[in-house]
Amino acid sequence: PDTGALAARLLAWYDRHRRHLPWRMPPGVRSDPYLVWVSEVMLQQVRVETVARYYGPFVERWPTVGALAAAPLEEVLRAWSGLGRYARAHNLHASARLVVERHGGRVPEDEAALLALPGVGPYTAAAILAIGFGRGGSAVPVDGNIERVVARLFALGWDTGSPASRRRAELRRLAASLAPQARPGDHAQALMDLGATICIPNGRPRCGACPVADACAARAAGVAETLALGPKRAPK
Ligand code: ADE
Repeated sequence: PDTGALAARLLAWYDRHRRHLPWRMPPGVRSDPYLVWVSEVMLQQVRVETVARYYGPFVERWPTVGALAAAPLEEVLRAWSGLGRYARAHNLHASARLVVERHGGRVPEDEAALLALPGVGPYTAAAILAIGFGRGGSAVPVDGNIERVVARLFALGWDTGSPASRRRAELRRLAASLAPQARPGDHAQALMDLGATICIPNGRPRCGACPVADACAARAAGVAETLALGPKRAPK
């Protein structure tokens, strides 16, 4: 597909239909990298609706890396209660202290430095770079929603023989090929929203409402539903 046109349509759709979530800035406005970091850590395997209730009070109380680093761990854990998986809060707090020590309290705009922080993996590092720093290029966050959307767009099936890691690497490459230089953070979040609201995993994807349906290879091949189901589906 014409990836430039596709990205432009995705952004136009995002501007009109994006979910209004407390950690999001208006279209085209870059977010604070620290706030992106907090939201992305909270969002790991926790529903958006749940995170929406915890995020605001948390960042009001600790609005900067320095504030979080200075907080007693027990208080951070208490504010986290309800989100579960406390290791994430431990790591976030320890990482905030490291950012103060190593980077003067500024979240580093550098993939290797981000990956050196406990709890920050490739997805979170890429999300911080794209959404918080507006960095396009290699830093493309790819979560489960984005994997599914990209798999459908390119009709990349489960077509075994190649291991899941190969498929995943291919999906990352394809996702990177879609990412525009302008507004990479909005682009990533457009794919997330598309995956959460239109290009959904269960039931029928709502292709009639999809801004890029006419470019979707899975739809053209009539396999948009089955592509999302994974490799272990018993043949009918
Ligand atoms: N899930 C993970 N990151 C997200 C984001 N920035 N917006 C919505 N859902 C998400």
